[in-house]
Amino acid sequence: MERYRIRGGNRLHGEVEISGAKNAAVAIIPAALMVDGVCRIENLPRISDTDTLLHILQSLGAGIRMINSSTVEIDSSHVTWDGADYDRMRKIRASYYFIGSMLGRFGVARSTMPGGCNFGVRPIDQHIKGLTALGAAVDVQEGGFIYGEAAGRRLRGAQIYLDKISVGATMNIMIAAAMADGKTVIENAAREPHIVDLANFLNSMGANIRGAGTDTIKVTGVSRLHGGTYAIIPDQIEAGTFMVATAACGGEVLIQNVIPKHLDCISAKLREMGVTVEEYPESVLVRSTGELRRANVKTQPYPGFPTDMQPQLSTALALAKGTSVVTEGVWDNRYKYVNELRKMGAQIQVDGKTAVIEGVPCLTGAPVAACDLRAGAAMVIAGLCASGVTYVEDIQYIERGYQNFPGKLRALGGDVVLVSEPDKPEARGAAAG
Ligand code: EPU
Repeated sequence: MERYRIRGGNRLHGEVEISGAKNAAVAIIPAALMVDGVCRIENLPRISDTDTLLHILQSLGAGIRMINSSTVEIDSSHVTWDGADYDRMRKIRASYYFIGSMLGRFGVARSTMPGGCNFGVRPIDQHIKGLTALGAAVDVQEGGFIYGEAAGRRLRGAQIYLDKISVGATMNIMIAAAMADGKTVIENAAREPHIVDLANFLNSMGANIRGAGTDTIKVTGVSRLHGGTYAIIPDQIEAGTFMVATAACGGEVLIQNVIPKHLDCISAKLREMGVTVEEYPESVLVRSTGELRRANVKTQPYPGFPTDMQPQLSTALALAKGTSVVTEGVWDNRYKYVNELRKMGAQIQVDGKTAVIEGVPCLTGAPVAACDLRAGAAMVIAGLCASGVTYVEDIQYIERGYQNFPGKLRALGGDVVLVSEPDKPEARGAAAG
């Protein structure tokens, strides 16, 4: 069994380079299925989720060529819509984007019900509503398959109002509509930076999408997407995770390859907590004494405070002076990690979507589990701040979304190593990507 061993107590100092955005990459790879030619994707994060999606695309007939550690060339000239590696598809949330891209290109799609992190019910009714409006009949079939087919195997543009702001549904509908006949309007669309990034990717391959980043997106369908080159934006949440880690441990870290605007809500919250955040054109400098003030926070769709930063920030607040109130405004059940933090001495009461956090002066090392990707990052931050040794288990969740997390933290002075039984350091934690 592999896990992280963390010896807490070190301040973080130095520079860290942020990788490409996971939640943009996991939509762009399935969308590349629609490109009739070779597309070159740069700033690709090397995480297990992107590896899984590239394997799925390959199983559908795409040529995949790694040019260097963060650049891939995908040739989807000869892909099909059936016979994918369904076992891999089932493991990953973002496999639902293949439904949109297959329907867009072929008018017919077969996928599986999506997997991914479990924090309450994760319905896809808004995806299905949108794809149905575009003229596809979408059914869930025996064995957990999703099958969709458009009349005449061609989608047609439509006016779609999302009942709930959904990142996934906005992206899936945008992908499908890029190759539908006529014009699609998505209203009450999500506005996250990765939505703009997906639109920019598709536009650079010949699509016609306007308004991404606002709540109304207009897509005029085209009959073919051509090859091209595209660089993925930096990961807002990976950057935010390093910002919060620095705030909680104390120290001074220059976080490089970021878009500071995307970090505004995180920077503002950290400043409220007594942390210094300086912005530069492509980096932010975070300086912290490690003594934090309490704050209240509510997670919301962009430009609100991101739900994907909630476990990390709550961990910092567990060490802040005073009582903080955290409200989860996106997911029903994203506090499972609180039980793990309590094992380290945190004082947190959860009632439905609200967590009341009484700051404590210190946490103590303990064996804990990563309940999901961001909860796992939160456990690592807790371990870095705690006295003594923390073991974090179920690190496969963390590896789904953070490229070389232990290595990047070690370069800042954090004592985090990947160990496998019986407690033997592995080369992988040091070398990966
Ligand atoms: N929802 C519906 N119906 C739908 C879709 C969503 O009711 O058809 C609800 C959800 O239950 C939730 C809310 O709408 O309450 C928002 O869900 P959304 O669709 O926006 O989430 P998602 O697309 O499934 C993506 C990220 C998540 C991130 C959320 C919110 C990917 C692969 N995942 O999920 O990222 O938390 O947006 O920003 O892009 C992560 O990176 O750790 C992660 C979980």
